[in-house]
Amino acid sequence: MSIPLQKHVKNTSRIAFGCMGLGGSWDKNTLTKSQLREAHDAVNTALESGIRFFDHADIYCHGKSESVFGEILMSMPNVREQIVIQSKCGIRLEEGSLVGQYDASADWIQTSVEASLKRLKTDYLDILLIHRPDPLMQVEEVADVFNRLHNEGKVKHFGVSNMHVHQIKYLQYYCDVPLIVNQLEMSLFKYGWVEETLHAGNAPLNTTHWSGGQLEHCAMNDIQIQAWGSLAQGLFSGRDISSESLAVQNTAALVAELAAEYQTTKEAIVLGWLMRHPANVQPVIGTIQPERIKACTEANSVLLSRNHWYKLLVTARGQALP
Ligand SMILES: NC(=O)c1ccc[n+]([C@@H]2O[C@H](COP(=O)([O-])OP(=O)(O)OC[C@H]3O[C@@H](n4cnc5c(N)ncnc54)[C@H](OP(=O)(O)O)[C@@H]3O)[C@@H](O)[C@H]2O)c1
Repeated sequence: MSIPLQKHVKNTSRIAFGCMGLGGSWDKNTLTKSQLREAHDAVNTALESGIRFFDHADIYCHGKSESVFGEILMSMPNVREQIVIQSKCGIRLEEGSLVGQYDASADWIQTSVEASLKRLKTDYLDILLIHRPDPLMQVEEVADVFNRLHNEGKVKHFGVSNMHVHQIKYLQYYCDVPLIVNQLEMSLFKYGWVEETLHAGNAPLNTTHWSGGQLEHCAMNDIQIQAWGSLAQGLFSGRDISSESLAVQNTAALVAELAAEYQTTKEAIVLGWLMRHPANVQPVIGTIQPERIKACTEANSVLLSRNHWYKLLVTARGQALP
């Protein structure tokens, strides 16, 4: 079966909004009025700033992130068709006798998608990702449930998250539907994705578990790479870093210097560094503060020079290239 890729799914917005912070907290308490208002303000600001791609997962804030987003959608008629909603399943949180685990069984994928649709108050997900590799995953079973969800109209496209190249290749071998996304931890702090490409014949500097050939495989197979943790949780854009390493402190200082030089925000430099790479990385931003959301979207108009891109890399790694 081949699924024609809707153009808008991939070109909706260069930056994706990560919804993990929308549900208030990781407990089962009802959202307070101020948490609800905060979520509304964040989503409104994202939309006003041109963001049209929203990243969810069934587990975020125990489902509250999807629920509050569903409420927001109901209050904005016509928005659903203009945005891409991506969600993930496959992580099960500890509950009663259930140990925290990964679950990519067909039953759980189907159950989880149906619960996400209910919470999001929508008939379909634009994209569904398997959140993490499950060692017990049966690939034929995943292929079947992907087909079923697609045929039922519940999911338009499929992808993965935190998978090595060989794991995507293996799953794709069995799936009829194309896997169109891999979402991975990538930033100026977690720079193993660049490090891996630099080390022909040299020992890598850090131990990030980045599989060789990921960028190339994704480019050659039209798989969108998305970067979670893309703001490095604010390490280089204003968070207190007094107890962080010298490399982090020097990088934060360089980010501030470049923000002044490019007349932009620090967030735009941090994200602009990811976006300058030809791998066409789509950063997923996790801030829910309106001012920071706007500051992030400034990255759309920043093009770092080659020299500045390398200067940021060398400063972040704390030593010259091999
Ligand atoms: N696939 C996966 O396994 C996976 C894992 C984790 C996350 N994700 C997705 O990726 C998105 C982003 O991930 P993330 O939240 O880990 O990364 P992030 O975007 O790097 O960091 C966002 C966090 O950093 C805080 N922050 C940002 N700038 C700050 C500053 N200057 N000072 C203080 N705090 C600051 C934000 O708080 P404020 O809201 O207060 O700004 C927020 O808590 C999530 O929403 C989720 O959609 C996916």
